[in-house]
Amino acid sequence: MKILKNDTIVSGMRPTGALHLGNYFGALYNWIKLQNDYKCLFFVADWHALTTGYEDTSDINNNITSLVTDWLSAGLDPDKCSIFLQSSVKEHAELHLLLSMITPLSWLFRCPTYKDQLAQIKDKNITNYGFLGYPCLMSSDILLYKAKFVPVGEDQLPHLELTREIARRFNYLYGEVFPEPAPKLTEAKVLPGTDGRKMSKSYGNTISLSDSPETVKNKVSTMITDPARIRKNDPGHPEVCTVYAFHKVFNPNDISEIEEQCCGGKIGCVQCKKKLANSMVESLAPIYEKRQEILSKPDYVNDIVQKGNKEARSIAEKTIEEVRSVMKIDWNASK
Ligand code: TRP
Repeated sequence: MKILKNDTIVSGMRPTGALHLGNYFGALYNWIKLQNDYKCLFFVADWHALTTGYEDTSDINNNITSLVTDWLSAGLDPDKCSIFLQSSVKEHAELHLLLSMITPLSWLFRCPTYKDQLAQIKDKNITNYGFLGYPCLMSSDILLYKAKFVPVGEDQLPHLELTREIARRFNYLYGEVFPEPAPKLTEAKVLPGTDGRKMSKSYGNTISLSDSPETVKNKVSTMITDPARIRKNDPGHPEVCTVYAFHKVFNPNDISEIEEQCCGGKIGCVQCKKKLANSMVESLAPIYEKRQEILSKPDYVNDIVQKGNKEARSIAEKTIEEVRSVMKIDWNASK
């Protein structure tokens, strides 16, 4: 059956380093499913990375390559979706500028993510124009492609709300150009970090998509289990155990057996971890192998991004033409 890809989906990630399993199950896994049913555009939000990381830009280029490599290894398919770089499609900047003219400062100042980040980030000065305008740039990313749905995490919902407000204001002022995009919240499997806290790079408790089988095994062996369990025969409490939380995701079919063995003191933590490590290495093997294949072809990632840039540009150029026309700033085109 041929799928009619009528609805457009747009989403982006900032290039901040190797993706971990939390990112994979939280977002990428859904992107990979969506590419079969929608017209999907996925991009590296490198300009967004500058809003907080403008001072030290030394990692950005490498992070862009590694992010796209992660996407492709995990299963984004350039024949099914467009993969591109935000800064290679200059129309993002043009639409951002035009939308900034009609975005009231109060909308930006009251954005909860702006207030939270200002309070949290103490080691960098982010009291800049670019950081305040983050949601306006994000609105441009979405509206430029007239996206119908935007797969994002809950933390991004205020930005989506703002995008709809900006779209309404534009349409009211100049004429109907932009459909109002809706968030696409998808059920995400939640994995803790190896120490039981939320998986996060800043805690140093991540397992990366690019980790080798040996690294995965080592990291599993350091996972925190039930602290009350000292000897193998002690009854365990799976609900407080990190290894068990991972088994739920990687061994869903055996989960009741694992629970019973743990609670009954029939399996030791070391053995339970070995079982997990083996399943993880097996499930992650296709991703790892695909990565090796990609890394063996030096131009592969670049070629895919160049192709995606072209696809994105051809849509973006049309939208900008329309925007200039309804705003009556199309003097050149009218000559
Ligand atoms: N702000 C998003 C994040 O941090 C990244 C992003 C930028 C984005 N532009 C976007 C996501 C447009 C969806 C659509 O996760």
